[in-house]
Amino acid sequence: MGALPAIRYDIITLFPQILAGFVGESLLAKAIARGLIEVHTHNLRDWSPDKRHHKVDSPPYGGGPGMLIQVEPTVLCVEAVRRMHEEPGELILLTPAGQRFDQPLAAELATHRRLIFLCGRYEGFDQRVVDILQPREISLGDFVLNGGEVAAMAMVEATMRLIPGVLGDAASSVEDSFSDAQLLEFPQYTRPRTFRGHAVPEVLLSGNHQQIAQWRSAQRLARTARQRRDLLQDASSNMPCPASNDSGVDEAEQNRRPGY
Ligand SMILES: C[S@@+](CC[C@H](N)C(=O)[O-])C[C@H]1O[C@@H](n2cnc3c(N)ncnc32)[C@H](O)[C@@H]1O
Repeated sequence: MGALPAIRYDIITLFPQILAGFVGESLLAKAIARGLIEVHTHNLRDWSPDKRHHKVDSPPYGGGPGMLIQVEPTVLCVEAVRRMHEEPGELILLTPAGQRFDQPLAAELATHRRLIFLCGRYEGFDQRVVDILQPREISLGDFVLNGGEVAAMAMVEATMRLIPGVLGDAASSVEDSFSDAQLLEFPQYTRPRTFRGHAVPEVLLSGNHQQIAQWRSAQRLARTARQRRDLLQDASSNMPCPASNDSGVDEAEQNRRPGY
């Protein structure tokens, strides 16, 4: 018998084929092959009371454009999927109206043993899906997608990276943007040393690990100040403000200069 997965994902969708390539590639496929992760997709149409056409949508009461996904097949499907494993799991309904997804939320979700994603299409779900199933409503961001599948895939990727053993080097996820503090990652370079007059910063070639660590730390602050100043309000409680010392924005300016 194989090892129990660290996390099981169930994705309920009207378009399982969208996910077929996703689960068969790259880190996710490797993690599945190693038994760390399981991904199961379920076609909502299989729970349609309409056994001939497998229809699951209907026009909204009160009028309006588009179609809504009906409450009956959705509730039956979620209940059946829940029963497929002893761990009932955390039910997540993808919707632009939900809590905005971010790295702290990814970290919290990654502590669950099972996540069940409910992907909408058309104009979304009948409200009674939320009233009856009481899912967590989560949004990928303040924009509208055609369906929840892309959002579910983003959330699978963001959470699976945090499962011990999934990444080749565990330090990768620790040093990523937003991880140990609400800061962006420092700039990274690889071969060649110079391209079109743009040289790798000398400090990275020095072999002095202390200086490299200091440079990277300063660069994280500088980059965050330049590109996402809003994040520094969160970080200010445990890190010095870049505007108050020499390591902040000035360093960012230096880094932009070729040859620094
Ligand atoms: C076209 S959208 C429906 C949008 C809905 N009428 C509204 O205005 O909120 C169809 C489905 O895509 C998914 N979706 C769209 N945008 C999303 C977002 N930002 N985050 C998560 N899911 C989203 C949801 O599952 C939604 O039910």
